[in-house]
Amino acid sequence: MTQELAGKSAVVAAGAKNLGGLISTHLAARGANVLVHYNSDASEPDADKTVAAVEAAGSKAAKFQADLTVPANIVELFDAAVAAFGSVDIAVNTVGKVLRKPITETTEADYDSMFAINAKAAYFFLQEAGKRLEDGGRVVTIVTALLAAFTDGYSTYAGSKSPVEHFTRAAAKEFGERLITVNSIAPGPMDTPFFYPQETPERVEFHKSQGLGGRLTRIEDIAPLVDFLVTDGGWVTGQTIFANGGYTTR
Ligand SMILES: NC(=O)c1ccc[n+]([C@@H]2O[C@H](COP(=O)([O-])OP(=O)(O)OC[C@H]3O[C@@H](n4cnc5c(N)ncnc54)[C@H](OP(=O)(O)O)[C@@H]3O)[C@@H](O)[C@H]2O)c1
Repeated sequence: MTQELAGKSAVVAAGAKNLGGLISTHLAARGANVLVHYNSDASEPDADKTVAAVEAAGSKAAKFQADLTVPANIVELFDAAVAAFGSVDIAVNTVGKVLRKPITETTEADYDSMFAINAKAAYFFLQEAGKRLEDGGRVVTIVTALLAAFTDGYSTYAGSKSPVEHFTRAAAKEFGERLITVNSIAPGPMDTPFFYPQETPERVEFHKSQGLGGRLTRIEDIAPLVDFLVTDGGWVTGQTIFANGGYTTR
């Protein structure tokens, strides 16, 4: 593997497991040091495994636990990366929460939680990346292919991910002065434990039928796009890139 990110450092929010875990190890395989963020105590063993995998690839790693709906915690996250590695060049945010519920049943608490995790945390993560990244840095946020869907049930999920597109556009313009690129990636329904609880077996089959080859998106379909954006993809900025085997388009 080419060490094209040798000497660079990354913060991966929700970088311990599933998609974020794979992104952490991909960045390490290309030579980057990685600060592996995790949220719940239950994710700590995943964070430990990912830190070990990053170190096994020859890079430096550290773990950091935080609820990123609190902006002060995002400041501490970047502080921790600077303390561990000296500087930060790459910031990837894979934090998310899903809910499938009719609008008429959605509570204020549901709404507040969804927007705190999917929109507020994403906004303040971008803000801190804009303050802390080195010139020429790269920022990626994970959104959802539902941003191009016309469907029921996901009002607060798609609704709270969709502002990230506009945050991304503004950040790309504002941080572009320092040649920092900012993009979002929109995966299709992805084969991780995040996807299944709110779906029925019949709906899972339908989602599969809508993707190339009759399958769901895999985390292995998405991590290479992050690799591209943080290496050779410097001419791509302000975009939402849909990667979903043709599930939705616009
Ligand atoms: N799986 C899919 O079908 C699918 C499709 C399209 C897009 N996505 C998006 O892809 C991203 C990764 O999802 P995944 O499938 O890999 O599942 P995942 O591992 O469950 O990712 C969600 C992550 O968000 C973290 N998180 C939740 N609340 C948080 C908070 N308050 N502060 C900080 N972190 C918090 C979770 O940490 P804890 O578990 O420790 O709380 C978890 O690591 C998400 O943004 C998701 O919206 C997923």
